[in-house]
Amino acid sequence: MLDQLKQLETEALAAFSVTENMNDLEAARVAFMGRKGRLADIMSQLPSLSNEEKRAAGQMANEVKAAIEGAFAAAQSRIESAFAELNAERAWIDTTLPGEEPGLGHVHLTTQAIADIMEIFSKLGFNRQRHPDLDWDYYAFESLNMPKEHPARDEWETFFIADPDKDVVQMGELGKVVLTPHTSNAQVREMQKGQLPIRMINIGKTYRRQATARHLPMFHQFEGLMIDENVSITDLRGVFDFFVKRFFGEGTKTRLRPFHFRFTEPSFELDISCTVCEGEGFVNGTKCKLCKGGWLELGGAGMVHPNVLKAGGIDPKKYTGFAFGWGVERTAMMRGGLKMDDIRLMYRNDLRFLKQF
Ligand code: PHE
Repeated sequence: MLDQLKQLETEALAAFSVTENMNDLEAARVAFMGRKGRLADIMSQLPSLSNEEKRAAGQMANEVKAAIEGAFAAAQSRIESAFAELNAERAWIDTTLPGEEPGLGHVHLTTQAIADIMEIFSKLGFNRQRHPDLDWDYYAFESLNMPKEHPARDEWETFFIADPDKDVVQMGELGKVVLTPHTSNAQVREMQKGQLPIRMINIGKTYRRQATARHLPMFHQFEGLMIDENVSITDLRGVFDFFVKRFFGEGTKTRLRPFHFRFTEPSFELDISCTVCEGEGFVNGTKCKLCKGGWLELGGAGMVHPNVLKAGGIDPKKYTGFAFGWGVERTAMMRGGLKMDDIRLMYRNDLRFLKQF
């Protein structure tokens, strides 16, 4: 019986040391030490022994029991710590903790600028109108006093929409289908609505076949158009000044520089005093990094050409008007005094860039 007890101890210790979870460990404990287990089985022989043998067996049984219980406790803590480690590895989630709030973003720099631009012009009674950014050649060029094949068109590096069977999509009198290279396609479209006077702002996407650090194939423009009786360059100047002072700051100066567009006469480039050097051209004695000579070019403008008014069904003897068209991204960058080495950053969706605005 003493041998049996020793044997039992060896087997129990071996069994406990290889268990990998609490269920197996408990099953092993019951098999060896349970009421109907191996130890109880061995001890049932006790009554048949002599008194001397009983004492020796009893003593041995106590030692074996203590050894097995010690091994059980050791196995238990080994399994517990193995599970704790495993849980930590699985990034255990405490479901009782309050949740993490998702980060709140903000609108894109371009969208912010569009909202600000619209707010300023609406104070002067201009309404936002929406005109297509996929349009006929007629509205993008021909109605704007640029006949087919006219070299002035070269300035707008135009995308034409292809037809699988032909080179490009053609539509009778209205010509080819283009991705609008400027928002000026809105001019005649707005006139054709037949309602006067007009105070329109058309903000939209524009497309040109240019992809460099300084040019995006897609950018935004906003087009202003005012048509009424007796509208003059003075009105253009006043509207321009009003916008610039509110958008760039009260101290900003403006300048009209003669230029040429086919659809306005006279035509101008509109400049503002530099937002970094405040028109000085120098900052602390060194040349301004943003501008050349104190001025920044905002965009084009002019008095609507009589041929354009006619195309829109408006009598140029009775009505006059002005139009302007500026790039949104450019305007937004100028406000921040930003000289972006690479304008493509605007649409790369890099949060490190976007979060700064
Ligand atoms: N459409 C012109 C451009 O893209 C800008 C412009 C608009 C000029 C309206 C005059 C009048 O450059």
